[in-house]
Amino acid sequence: MEALRQRLGHKKSKNINWIVDDLCNSQKLHLLDQVDLWHDRAVLHFFLKPGEQDAYFKLLKHLVKENGYVIIAAFNYNGALKCSGLPVHRYKQEMLEDKLGQEFLIKRSFNYTYTNPTGDTREYIYTLFQRDAD
Ligand SMILES: C[S@@+](CC[C@H](N)C(=O)[O-])C[C@H]1O[C@@H](n2cnc3c(N)ncnc32)[C@H](O)[C@@H]1O
Repeated sequence: MEALRQRLGHKKSKNINWIVDDLCNSQKLHLLDQVDLWHDRAVLHFFLKPGEQDAYFKLLKHLVKENGYVIIAAFNYNGALKCSGLPVHRYKQEMLEDKLGQEFLIKRSFNYTYTNPTGDTREYIYTLFQRDAD
């Protein structure tokens, strides 16, 4: 986070609300106003326990506005078993649809091969959902 702050510089970084919290046991995030966009790349797949996943999606549903969007990029169901040396829970579109429930409509989904700085590749699934207005 500090590296990102430095990269952005003072002028841009001072407009950002930087929050350190546990997505599976939120102490701060759940107190925020609702948001237009939830964007997660390479975080959800670290949550292996059903209780952690449930807490993550409960927080997401609490925070995303009606008509708001959700982008989730996670290790693909057919992809690698580990990320940064840690075991991951891999996803396909249907699993994310199931977790989000009917009020989140899938708008787009695609597979993506990420090449990391060492040249290794990792298979991701990218998904975009929009929340119903009900
Ligand atoms: C592979 S990195 C992805 C970082 C960034 N999203 C990206 O795409 O470059 C995984 C991130 O998940 C964060 N993370 C892991 N468990 C977490 C938790 N329980 N709550 C919040 N963040 C968590 C780690 O701190 C780390 O920054």
